[in-house]
Amino acid sequence: MKNILRINNVSKLFPNNVRALNKISLEIEEGEIFALLGPNGAGKTTLISSVCGITRQSEGNIKVKDFDTVTEYKKARSEIGLVPQELTLETFETVWNTLVFSRGLHGKPSNPEYLHSLLDDLSLGDKKDERILSLSGGMKRRVLIAKALSHEPSVLFLDEPTAGVDVSLRKTLWNMIRSLKKSGVTVILTTHYIKEAEELADRVGIINQGEILLTEDKKVLMKRLGKRKLILSIESKKNSIPEELKELNLEFGKTNSTIIYSYDSKDRNSDIFEIMSRISNSGLKILDFETHQSSLEEIFVDLVSGRSQ
Ligand SMILES: Nc1ncnc2c1ncn2[C@@H]1O[C@H](COP(=O)(O)OP(=O)(O)O)[C@@H](O)[C@H]1O
Ligand SMILES: [Mg+2]
Repeated sequence: MKNILRINNVSKLFPNNVRALNKISLEIEEGEIFALLGPNGAGKTTLISSVCGITRQSEGNIKVKDFDTVTEYKKARSEIGLVPQELTLETFETVWNTLVFSRGLHGKPSNPEYLHSLLDDLSLGDKKDERILSLSGGMKRRVLIAKALSHEPSVLFLDEPTAGVDVSLRKTLWNMIRSLKKSGVTVILTTHYIKEAEELADRVGIINQGEILLTEDKKVLMKRLGKRKLILSIESKKNSIPEELKELNLEFGKTNSTIIYSYDSKDRNSDIFEIMSRISNSGLKILDFETHQSSLEEIFVDLVSGRSQ
């Protein structure tokens, strides 16, 4: 597969000395859905803004379909559709004109049929002549997507597309993103919802403090995220794990009054009860238990401290 986007050693230092991006390199394959996952302030929007020419990187270069985003800005930009994080629409404009203007700005010849089909796909067909200000928040978001697609870009960026969106619109957006992929569009979305990456992405990148901590096939990452822990409080009599429990790879918690069993959430649930009965049969008295799923945050902590790699 060809790489449609190549980000090479990109850093961004804002005038206030905030280093929002620190030597980021990332390649995106044509036709994939890539989710950039990271907490607030990680640099997601800054990275997208650099690719789209809204801000200029302080260092490094970016190529979209071999067009440099600085030296061949117009060509690079016309390959990109951007659905920004914030609603940015001319409120007195109609939906139709919003799309027509945006297409024109990217130098594409008019194509009303395409724009009609775009509106229909986003269930906006009957809103065509409405002014933006009369639309609901969810509708406005759909218009933003239609606008981003109005010039038939080959790469679509969605910056936190479902933040603050209700469940039904979120599902609609997910389905739409999947069908965009089918039509050959490469999709790059940012999110801080692990679930969103899980639902949609072929590949996931984790960004924190302006650095890409890892990029991984979604399935591999989810397996790592799927780790669970069974934490047992025991009567603190023993200093070592009984021999017959060795194969469970139990660990002591911070004190010898808790022991931890790590397992994969794909394992059958009944297993943990079997594990607990094996533990209590070995003579350890279980006083209490809880289970714990590793969160994205913990994965960050693991990655940052280098524990998981
Ligand atoms: N225009 C700006 N001027 C100064 N600092 C900025 C600017 N935009 C973003 N930042 C800072 O850069 C960092 C990354 O921000 P951003 O890219 O918006 O993160 P994210 O989208 O992942 O939440 C943050 O520390 C933010 O405060
Ligand atoms: Mg952002």
